Amino acid sequence: MKKYLVIGNPIEHSLSPLVHNFWFRKYNLSDSNYEKRKIERIDLKNIVDQVRNKKIEGVNITVPFKKEIIPFLDSLKGDAQLTLSVNTLCKNNNEVIGFNTDTKGFKNSLKNEKIDYKNKNILIIGAGGVSSSILAAFVKSAKKIYITNRTRKKADELKKLGEVSLTLLGRKKEIIEVVDWGKTVEICDIIVNTTSIGLLKGENLNLDFKKYNNVNSLFYDLIYNPKETNFLKEAKLRGNKIMNGKMMFLWQAQIAFQMWTGVEASIDKELIKLLEV
Ligand code: ATR
Repeated sequence: MKKYLVIGNPIEHSLSPLVHNFWFRKYNLSDSNYEKRKIERIDLKNIVDQVRNKKIEGVNITVPFKKEIIPFLDSLKGDAQLTLSVNTLCKNNNEVIGFNTDTKGFKNSLKNEKIDYKNKNILIIGAGGVSSSILAAFVKSAKKIYITNRTRKKADELKKLGEVSLTLLGRKKEIIEVVDWGKTVEICDIIVNTTSIGLLKGENLNLDFKKYNNVNSLFYDLIYNPKETNFLKEAKLRGNKIMNGKMMFLWQAQIAFQMWTGVEASIDKELIKLLEV
């Protein structure tokens, strides 16, 4: 049996097993199985060792270990290097390698909706665990990226990380600007909520988006359960476009699945419906 895992803490709510086991069945990979496991920080080394020994074929990592796993890995590839956030482990030539499929998953979700995110003004709300993956999606081509976070210091750190990418790309550091929490900026084309506000019913960001009335901007919330946070409900009432994080979640899984199995799994209606539980 080939074993796959998603590790995190908490982990009960993870829908990753549902998705990957759906694909294992669909593509007749009956010798493969995907489970969720709640772990503690102390277990990280052991998990990586098990990937190295082929006891585990592949691992997804979720909150709060996407950064903490890094010291135990042999190397990081692609967006994992730029974001310092690892959500997927693979073994390659005896090395356990950390990948980040969140950034590409996010970009795919936009491309799939034919949303042009190049040369646009972007506002990233939050500077937590997932924010660097969103920032990485925009550094290459955004006109301007504003970051705002309740705790300014974390936004400053995220900006510094983004500046490394901008420098590598030969772009100006000034493209990223940190804005104090609650302060408004020029109208942006895409506004992404990367905070955890909205996970609980009734929670509200309390940011002022009045000037977006009837503006054709996209309000994107990475949260997909609940389906429509207040952030999205209010955007809809203002006449803005909205998206939740469901398709990003599915795309990040699709990319990891292909890395592990070589199968380019499809995100079909049946799968999308399966997540509506
Ligand atoms: P995770 O790893 O789940 O992303 P995190 O790193 O603590 O968790 O990030 C959560 C994000 O939601 C952060 O941007 C956090 O802001 P702070 O850095 O100021 O903590 C944001 N957040 C959570 N609760 C918030 C609240 N009540 N008001 C404003 N921002 C909040």
